[in-house]
Amino acid sequence: MTDFIHRFEPATSAGSPPLLLLHGTGGDENDLLGLGKMISPGSALLSPRGRVLEHGMPRFFRRLAEGVFDEDDVRRRTVELGEFIADSRRRYGIAAPIAVGFSNGANIAAALLLLQPDVLAGAILLRAMVPLSEPPEASLNGEPVLLLSGQADPIVPASNSTKLAALLSEAGARVDHKVLPAGHQLSQADVTLARSWISDVEAKAA
Ligand code: MLT
Repeated sequence: MTDFIHRFEPATSAGSPPLLLLHGTGGDENDLLGLGKMISPGSALLSPRGRVLEHGMPRFFRRLAEGVFDEDDVRRRTVELGEFIADSRRRYGIAAPIAVGFSNGANIAAALLLLQPDVLAGAILLRAMVPLSEPPEASLNGEPVLLLSGQADPIVPASNSTKLAALLSEAGARVDHKVLPAGHQLSQADVTLARSWISDVEAKAA
């Protein structure tokens, strides 16, 4: 089993879906706890720290340059993260989580969807890119995905996020892709949209 340094906060409301919080480059397990509470108060929060270090900055997989990924490492680290999620579900008694990933965290969440479609119950991908140049054919069976991109994102070209939305849709995900008047950083609109998307997902599951 691969362990990750992580934080876990139990649910305070039985009906709320557990969230898997995945931080961006240089972040850690504490970064997205506040965001998780804002978008789904009451959800259990599982928040691992990426195990790869780039000049001391935690990440979820290695990259060769900005936006150029070591895809063997993406595949390997995605398996490790999938094992951690399965183990945490047993340890903490939680259902399959909805991932909430930002930047590098969103990219590994996208890799999880494509490589291990059964691990997540859905995903909110904040400033995500296509994680693999040749992804396998995944079967996402209507899994809900919210993809929020920044119109002026200097790291993620519009063509890349559009391609990711298409890949996930072709794999059978129910993708809601919105392009916000923002850059790579998150804005208030991300929080508002993520919050109402989660409420809809919850209402449909109830
Ligand atoms: C990545 O490496 O995953 C992307 O370039 C986003 C980032 O972490 O800067």
